[in-house]
Amino acid sequence: MSNAQRVVLISGAGRGIGAATAREFGRRGCHVIVNYLSNSEAAAGVVEDIESTGGTAQAVPADVCDAGQVDALVDGVLAEHGRIDVLVCNANTAAPPYVPFASLPWDAFAAKLTGELSGVYFLTQRVLAAMQQQRTGRIIFVSSTAADVITGSIAHSTATAALNVFSQQVSAEAARYGVAVNTVASGAANTDATSFFPEVIRQYFGERSVHGRLPEAADLGRLIALVGDEGFAVATGQVIRADDGFNLLTQQLDGPAARFGGSADQGE
Ligand SMILES: NC(=O)c1ccc[n+]([C@@H]2O[C@H](COP(=O)([O-])OP(=O)(O)OC[C@H]3O[C@@H](n4cnc5c(N)ncnc54)[C@H](OP(=O)(O)O)[C@@H]3O)[C@@H](O)[C@H]2O)c1
Repeated sequence: MSNAQRVVLISGAGRGIGAATAREFGRRGCHVIVNYLSNSEAAAGVVEDIESTGGTAQAVPADVCDAGQVDALVDGVLAEHGRIDVLVCNANTAAPPYVPFASLPWDAFAAKLTGELSGVYFLTQRVLAAMQQQRTGRIIFVSSTAADVITGSIAHSTATAALNVFSQQVSAEAARYGVAVNTVASGAANTDATSFFPEVIRQYFGERSVHGRLPEAADLGRLIALVGDEGFAVATGQVIRADDGFNLLTQQLDGPAARFGGSADQGE
């Protein structure tokens, strides 16, 4: 099936990485369902952007952590289009609590885990069932490198690690139906969710990134759309790290490599 006939559903596509991903799929000729929680203006703007480049899209509100709203969302898309070819589980459903574990209340920890996982659970279960009947499909989870980096939020790291394992388990079940499931684990990126970062933190990330800056939502959008492109038919069950080298450069600049004379400055 060519990109032009494909129906792509993206959760949390009104802003940030989801919006950038929606524009990319739109540019590739796919019909894009721009899901959002409450900011209808932002979602309408993404639809307009896609239409202005000759694509087609529609904005549909739904809280993806609510099973009933997910049913209505998926039923509506299937009734109108008869299929879903690509699902991108991207919605930023739960802000992490940044307090030391010693003073982290169970409720805050549980809320992060429940928000992160319910936001992918209902949507994946409903859409995977449709894709299994189609005998084809792509599911892409947007996770975080917080899964294996010390971020200062044990809840955030635990929740994203659970998401990565969840995605790999889903990929195993989906494989025999011709459905590929992959995860893009983003490092810190420039979106509303990180707008509180002070300049010194942006500089810190820039100095530890191959391209010298905090990645933009558009950088992630291009990667996610590539993984979902009909021509990308070579991987499933993978967690693709997208931190522009932050992990590697941090080890070189701050870790043991620097102390043993292998720092980036002396690298060659
Ligand atoms: N930004 C980063 O540094 C970073 C790093 C690693 C991973 N990520 C991951 O990337 C994804 C996107 O993050 P982002 O920074 O682009 O987020 P963002 O700019 O904060 O945008 C969040 C989007 O998610 C939607 N949303 C939130 N809760 C929702 C819900 N319950 N149901 C449906 N939609 C919901 C929002 O809708 P409204 O517009 O209606 O509010 C908005 O469109 C997230 O999964 C996040 O964990 C981000």
